[in-house]
Amino acid sequence: MIQIASRTSTSNNLAVITAVARRAIATAAAAGQQGKKTRLQDTLRIGSIPADGIGKEVVPAAQLVVEAVGVPVKWISLDAGFEYFQRHGVALPQSTVDTLINSCDGALFGAVSSPSHRVEGYSSPIVALRKKLDLFANIRPVISSPHVPRSLPGINCVIVRENTECLYVKEEQLTTTASGHKVATATRRISQEASARIAKVAFDIAVQRAREFKRPGKVTIVHKANVLPITDGLFRETVLAVSKESAYKDIIVEEQLVDSCVYRTFIDPQSFDVLVAPNMYGDIISDGAAAVVGGLGLVPSANSGNNFVVAEPVHGSAPDIAGLNIANPIATIRAAGLMLQQLGHDKAARAIEAGIQESLRRGQTTKDLGGSESTHSAAEKIASHAVAALARG
Ligand SMILES: NC(=O)c1ccc[n+]([C@@H]2O[C@H](COP(=O)([O-])OP(=O)(O)OC[C@H]3O[C@@H](n4cnc5c(N)ncnc54)[C@H](O)[C@@H]3O)[C@@H](O)[C@H]2O)c1
Repeated sequence: MIQIASRTSTSNNLAVITAVARRAIATAAAAGQQGKKTRLQDTLRIGSIPADGIGKEVVPAAQLVVEAVGVPVKWISLDAGFEYFQRHGVALPQSTVDTLINSCDGALFGAVSSPSHRVEGYSSPIVALRKKLDLFANIRPVISSPHVPRSLPGINCVIVRENTECLYVKEEQLTTTASGHKVATATRRISQEASARIAKVAFDIAVQRAREFKRPGKVTIVHKANVLPITDGLFRETVLAVSKESAYKDIIVEEQLVDSCVYRTFIDPQSFDVLVAPNMYGDIISDGAAAVVGGLGLVPSANSGNNFVVAEPVHGSAPDIAGLNIANPIATIRAAGLMLQQLGHDKAARAIEAGIQESLRRGQTTKDLGGSESTHSAAEKIASHAVAALARG
């Protein structure tokens, strides 16, 4: 096992995010599909889907920062979420899907509040959106923040989460035995096709990072094939088969059972480069990884398909702090940065990350990071540092 060199500088943080963005664009080209190409001077049409809870606070905060750095953007407000479901009986209106497909270059999603009990007719709109738009890769860069006391140093990895299947196919059944006991069953679907395409995303990112960081790349395959040799076995075999492709011959491949992967995330996160995981494992590991870099308020994600991106924070709707204007907007601002990079606005994305770093350095943070800024004032400060970074060039 190699130790990935410690990389916490702003430029390297940005390099990893850039690598992630380029990968998605390369995927589009490789697939021969006509992406929604935009020129830098064109006004971007971005779907804004705050949805529930703190989503309604962090999405406007991110919009403020994107506008401040001068990206020409028209925000298109779109409905989705549990609160919308409670009012209208549908969590993801068809009009939202149609507008995204027909009229948007990308989208920024906040968070949804999905109850932990069954609600007739309700299903998570973000899970549905990932499937409907075939946003098959959930790309989650996890990077140390030198100015955040709770962040361990030297972490710089990307979690590549398969986004369309596994237990998230949501095929559940409740039956009753002859003796009257209830039995609940869920289908966990793992396909060779989906495993292969997520593996290619992970290996391409590893190749790009190896090039940018000038050290060997590594992919860690996360699975539980010792207990689930058919489903996780297929995921493992398929990813291993992709690893044999000549383009990936220099990438180190290792495997980690998901349970010990969680352990390693807490004791040795610096040793990861790129992780590739089935949907649910990727989801769980991401929250653990967020904990070691300072918290959920910092970690972004990009749901990427061949020609569309829906950026969102890794965190949920945080009902415990919703409406208080204290949610950390950085994860969503960073998600907006990922989206901008995928749409070709590298310079603006870099300025935004520089603005975040400067705010962190000055301690201009929300309560979760020990500061006293509100969601809105934290975003305003990031925006002003980002504008200054742009002016410096
Ligand atoms: N993609 C999504 O929309 C998504 C993802 C995860 C959870 N959820 C939903 O969110 C709801 C709450 O779930 P949960 O509590 O397990 O996870 P959560 O991520 O919403 O919150 C976990 C903890 O982290 C804190 N936190 C999260 N984001 C923060 C931020 N930006 N700033 C400061 N603190 C922050 C919260 O206050 C809470 O204490 C559930 O209904 C769940 O279904 C949605």
